[in-house]
Amino acid sequence: MSTQWWRDAVIYQIYPRSFADSDGDGLGDLPGITSRLEHLVELGADAVWLSPFYPSPHADAGYDVADYRDVDPIFGKLADFDALLARAHQLGLRVIVDLVPNHTSDEHPWFKAAVAAGPGSRERERYVFRDEPNDWESVFGGSAWSQVADGQWYLHLFDVRQPDLNWDNPEVREEFENVLRFWLDRGVDGFRVDVAHGLAKKWEAPSGKGTPQPPGEPSLPLAPPAASINPDERPPMWDQEGVHEIYRSWRAVADGYPGERILVAEAWVDPLERLARYVRPDEMHQAFNFAFLLSPWLAGPLREVIIDSLATNDAVGAPTTWVLSNHDVIRHATRFGYPPGAKPPPGIGVDDPQPDEALGLRRARAATMLMLALPGVAYLYQGEELGLPEHTTLPDAVRQDPTWLRSANAVRGRDGSRVPIPWTPGGPSYGFGPGERTWLPQPPSWDRYALDAQRGAAGSTYELYREALRQRRAYRPGAGPMEWWDEAGTDAVAFRNGELLVVSNLGAEPVRLPAGARVLLASAELDDPTQVPTDVTVWALTS
Ligand code: GLC
Repeated sequence: MSTQWWRDAVIYQIYPRSFADSDGDGLGDLPGITSRLEHLVELGADAVWLSPFYPSPHADAGYDVADYRDVDPIFGKLADFDALLARAHQLGLRVIVDLVPNHTSDEHPWFKAAVAAGPGSRERERYVFRDEPNDWESVFGGSAWSQVADGQWYLHLFDVRQPDLNWDNPEVREEFENVLRFWLDRGVDGFRVDVAHGLAKKWEAPSGKGTPQPPGEPSLPLAPPAASINPDERPPMWDQEGVHEIYRSWRAVADGYPGERILVAEAWVDPLERLARYVRPDEMHQAFNFAFLLSPWLAGPLREVIIDSLATNDAVGAPTTWVLSNHDVIRHATRFGYPPGAKPPPGIGVDDPQPDEALGLRRARAATMLMLALPGVAYLYQGEELGLPEHTTLPDAVRQDPTWLRSANAVRGRDGSRVPIPWTPGGPSYGFGPGERTWLPQPPSWDRYALDAQRGAAGSTYELYREALRQRRAYRPGAGPMEWWDEAGTDAVAFRNGELLVVSNLGAEPVRLPAGARVLLASAELDDPTQVPTDVTVWALTS
C-alpha cells in the first residue's frame, strides 16, 4: 500500500563528520550516529538524510567520492552502515543517502585510469578531457579546467580534485544505475542527488557564458546567473534539458523496489517553474526549496515564495519542500541575526560584523515554526533543533572548505555550519566524542546549546522543536491545503492550515489573534495570549 510518506515527512540531515564520534578521533562516524538515533525519535523526525560517508580523500568533505559502494574507514565499515540502517528501520526512521553523480574524486579508479590511459582513450571518455580549456569557472573559484601531465585539460566545476563525469557516455549512466541498485538492495529509502542540475552540459556553448551558479552559499560573491526560462540564456553547465532523461531512468529503478524509495534533487535552479520540472510525475519525488531558504526575514518576500512554491509544485503534483539550514549555508539562527536583507559575508570570520545572536535565535525559532506549519515536507539540519548558531569566529588557520583555498582566501566558506554539535554541557567536546578532539574547534560558549542542557527545560529551543513536531503529527499541517489569513496585515505571514491558525509576525506592531483563539504553541513566551509580538510565530486553534 502506498503511504506517500514523502509528501509531508520531516527529514533530518545528519552530517556524519559532525554528529557523533564513537572512537575519539575527532571525526564523527557511523557507529556514533547509530548510538544517537533515538535522539531523532525523541525529536519526532520521520527520516534521516546522511551526507556522504563513502571512501574519499575529503578534498570537499566527502563530496569527492572515490568508491560509491563502500564506507570510508574514518566513518566505519559497510557492516556499520547495515547496522545503522537496521537500527533506524527498527526505530521507524527511513534513511536517505547522498549520491554524488556530477563528479568523482580524482582518486576514483576511473579517473586514475583516465589519466594513465592518455588522450583519445575510452577511459578519458568517462570524464571531460579537452585539448583546450574554455572560460568556464569553478564554483569554488578559479578556472574549471586543470591540466594533466600530457597537456590535456579536464573539467571540474567544483574542486580540482572533483573531475566532472561525462554523462553523454552510456557507461557512466549504467554505472550509476548500478550504484543506485547497490544501496537500494541494502535497503535505503532514497537518495539526495547532489548538484542534480549539473550533470548535462551544453558543449557547443559560446564562450563568455561561463559564470557558475553558486552551489549553496547564499552569499557567495559569484552572482547567480539571471533566471531565465529561455534555454539559450541559461549557463551551459546548469539546468540543461539532458538531466531529465537521467532522472526518468532513475525513477524507474527506484519504482522497481517496494516501499516508496525516493529521489530528492539538490538543484540550485531559478525560477521555481524550472525547479518543478525535476519533480514531474516520472522524475524525482522532491527538490530542495532554496528559494525559501534564501528569502530574507521579511513578510512580503516570504509570502511570495510560499505562494510560488506551492503553485509550481502543485502544477506537477509534487510536494513542496521547506528548508532553512544545511551544510552549505550559514545557519538560519545566524543569518537572521543580521538586519533583514543584509548579506552576511560568504563564511563569517572573526573580523567580520558579528550577528545579534539573541535576535537571530528569536527569528530562527519563529521561522522554523512557520516552516513546520506549511503544507509539504520539512528538512532540518542537525543542531538547528538546539538553536545552534554558525561558528562565526572560527580561526582561519583551521578552515577546510576548498572554497577558502581556491578563492585565495577571499571566501571563508562553509566550515562555520559544519562544527561538531554539542550533546552535553561541559565535558570534552560537549559529548560529541569520548575525547577533546574535534575536526573543527567548537566555540567556548556552546554549553547552553547542548542537548542535555535543553532537554526538559521549559522554553528551550529543543523542547520547542519537539512540541512543534508533536503537534505537526497531531494536526497534520503537512497535508495542507492552506488558506491565507489576510486580517493579520501585510507585515505578517498568516494562514489557516487544517485546524491550525498560523501567524508569524515580522512587523513592528503586535498582531491581534481572532477572538476566542486558543494558543497551542508560540516561538517565544507571550505576555498577552491574544497578541503575537514582533518576530514570533504562534499556532492557535479557533472555534
Ligand atoms: C553540493 C554539496 C556541497 C558540495 C557540492 C559539490 O552542493 O551540498 O557540499 O560542495 O555539491 O559536490
